Amino acid sequence: MKAILLAGGKGTRLRPLTLHTPKPVVPIFDRAFLHYQIDLLTQVPEIDEVILSLNYQPRRIEEVFGEGEGTGVRLRYVVEPAPLGTGGAIRYAAQGITDTLVVFNGDVMTSVDVNAVVERHRAARARATIVLTPVENPAAYGLVETDAEGHVRRFLEKPKPDEITCNTINAGIYVLEPETFDRIPKDVAYSIERGYFPSLTERGETFVAYVDHGYWIDIGTPEKYVQVHRDMFDGRFTAGLFATADRSAPIVSPDARVDDGATLTAPCFVDGGAHIKSGAVIGPYAVLGRGVVVEEGAELRNVIVWPNTRIGPNAVLDGPILGRNCHIGRNVTLRGPSVIGDKTALTDYTHT
Ligand code: GDD
Ligand code: MG
Repeated sequence: MKAILLAGGKGTRLRPLTLHTPKPVVPIFDRAFLHYQIDLLTQVPEIDEVILSLNYQPRRIEEVFGEGEGTGVRLRYVVEPAPLGTGGAIRYAAQGITDTLVVFNGDVMTSVDVNAVVERHRAARARATIVLTPVENPAAYGLVETDAEGHVRRFLEKPKPDEITCNTINAGIYVLEPETFDRIPKDVAYSIERGYFPSLTERGETFVAYVDHGYWIDIGTPEKYVQVHRDMFDGRFTAGLFATADRSAPIVSPDARVDDGATLTAPCFVDGGAHIKSGAVIGPYAVLGRGVVVEEGAELRNVIVWPNTRIGPNAVLDGPILGRNCHIGRNVTLRGPSVIGDKTALTDYTHT
């Protein structure tokens, strides 16, 4: 069985972070996002290949994952000639595949039991099975109505406020039978959510839901990107380094350098090659990427700092996400949520 990860979107809502780092490889703690999805897929013994469906900055994604060495599964890259939308991308990536497919939106972090979803699909002899998750406000998602037997009755992408009839939404995880993919037009952008799924309900084809009550989040906005880090710090979601790390203490890579006189308050994470100088105060809720340097007396709370950024002496940061290779001057004060792109230089004493 093969899996397709839809990883071709531009990640516009995460700009400027995604200008040089496509959303599928934004770091979540010490690893690129798609590593977490690949981990989940390796729990399904039948999946022997994961196809990454790419469009935006494909090279940057290939550089991160190579042929999948160390991931436990073979990876293949399919790059669309032009963005084909979610449906077009699936058809394009699934060329020549006749067997059942698992498909993931390449931006959802979840603990769903993929084996159980595949089982449900097989037991129902479904044409398509979709994972649903309950959310407070379905407006930003695909609303999915089901009947008492768990069959999908209606799929409505991005419903208007007066169209919201339930709280279950498309979690962006599907099991699909490719036999009717010829319904998806070739070479033009086509949305699986607006086109193919409604076509299944209209024709009365077997389209079943698997409602999951476990962890689920779409990491595609700055708020959600911060939230997923918080959730992992607080133990609402466990994956990656948190499978073994002790959350009640600062998590510091063995090859990070923390000078005497620096204060680290849990939860916080300091990756390899980082250097925290004396008098710096780190945490709670600070994520410092590889090679980050924090100078004397700087205070960092509620921050995510991408690799190789340097924070000047006595800077006070509470709330921002900082891209790679930034230079934050001395005594800079940033309070409240903000998103600072790669290579930004903030002059000494800048404040918000
Ligand atoms: N290859 C490829 N080509 N991938 C694409 C394209 C494309 O043209 N367009 C989008 N994608 C990928 C994105 O990278 C992302 O991983 C996934 O498809 C979904 O696109 P988003 O742009 O993130 O959609 P959304 O978040 O607004 O809505 C989707 O996800 C929700 C759950 O998070 C829909 O599937 C909703 O129905 C769903 O509820
Ligand atoms: Mg999304």
